[in-house]
Amino acid sequence: MATRSGALPERPVPFPARLPEVVWRAGVDLNPLDVRDQDDVRWLESLVWPEQTHRLERLRGAVRIARAEPPELVRGDLNATVRQLVARSPEGATPVVFHSAVLSYLPPAAVEDFAATMRTLPGHWISNEAPATLPAVARQLPDHSVTSGRAAFALALDGRAVALTGPHGQSLDWLGA
Ligand SMILES: C[S@@+](CC[C@H](N)C(=O)[O-])C[C@H]1O[C@@H](n2cnc3c(N)ncnc32)[C@H](O)[C@@H]1O
Repeated sequence: MATRSGALPERPVPFPARLPEVVWRAGVDLNPLDVRDQDDVRWLESLVWPEQTHRLERLRGAVRIARAEPPELVRGDLNATVRQLVARSPEGATPVVFHSAVLSYLPPAAVEDFAATMRTLPGHWISNEAPATLPAVARQLPDHSVTSGRAAFALALDGRAVALTGPHGQSLDWLGA
């Protein structure tokens, strides 16, 4: 992933030396799309703006990967399902719950419920959301990153803000340890 220079001081992104071994994947959505379904893929492709061919290529690459190793798809509300899903992760594995651009669709009380659940579950919680959706994360951000008007998400690990990101994964400004 590329980093972007800007108002924030440049900090090296601590890229891991190796990728984690992923032993099980599951995803939940109110309306999950299946990469094995051609209509679902065409719908996703139609959401990419016409001139953004790099995003189309990235989407098609992701579709190829997901087709080779399809995750288990669960239809439902994240608050109603996340606890049971995490409990199903294989013994000895570290569950990691990741979400991006999802919590802003929930009422604040449901976001609070979800954050409270995540604080009690084993493993790790990685959130990539508009800062306003998770106030506890927003409070840790440098002031100018929220007020500059730049479209940026906050990436947090276990509720600790670690980076500002481009909403479509196009940039990563590391905030430090
Ligand atoms: C903007 S899309 C983000 C999709 C994906 N995470 C990404 O970054 O490309 C928001 C998604 O959240 C899902 N969603 C909204 N409310 C939800 C809920 N309560 N439980 C599960 N999924 C929900 C929607 O169905 C939609 O697919």
